[in-house]
Amino acid sequence: MLTAKMEKALNDQIRVEAESSQVYLSMASWAEVKGLEGISLFMYKHSDEERLHMLKLIKYVNERGGHAHISDLKEPETDFGSFQKMFKDLYDHEIFVSQSINELVHVSLEEKDYATHNFLQWYVAEQIEEEALARTILDKINLIGNDKGGLYLFDRDVQLITVESAASDTAE
Ligand code: FEO
Repeated sequence: MLTAKMEKALNDQIRVEAESSQVYLSMASWAEVKGLEGISLFMYKHSDEERLHMLKLIKYVNERGGHAHISDLKEPETDFGSFQKMFKDLYDHEIFVSQSINELVHVSLEEKDYATHNFLQWYVAEQIEEEALARTILDKINLIGNDKGGLYLFDRDVQLITVESAASDTAE
């Protein structure tokens, strides 16, 4: 059974994951309109992943005798300025999500809820991967600078990352 404080904290995270999915969906749409096909695919997939993160939490809360709440969500931005800025936004957003997960882990220890603590380790590991991926992409962006041909290759590269990670997801 979850304590009220633990249940509230998990519900807050459900909202964070749902809002993350919306943010990346909005980025996907923006990139698609700009003709950045690979980047757009990457963002659509990222958005789907965030929805899965949300669903995993919902199932967990309900399984443990709590009630997962589906709340209204903050409207994401619709214009991201440039693809460089958009990926910087993505990185900053993932740092924010990691902090939020850390807070949640902290609450699980305070509440002596070791089952939830154990469950959350999946999210801790996931955040390490997501931050690393975002940093790798920012490094690539720094390398290409303002080179147009570079952008073409970068867009294809990002698409490749999407396809590779989809393949490894299926293999899991
Ligand atoms: Fe669910 Fe990208 O963190």
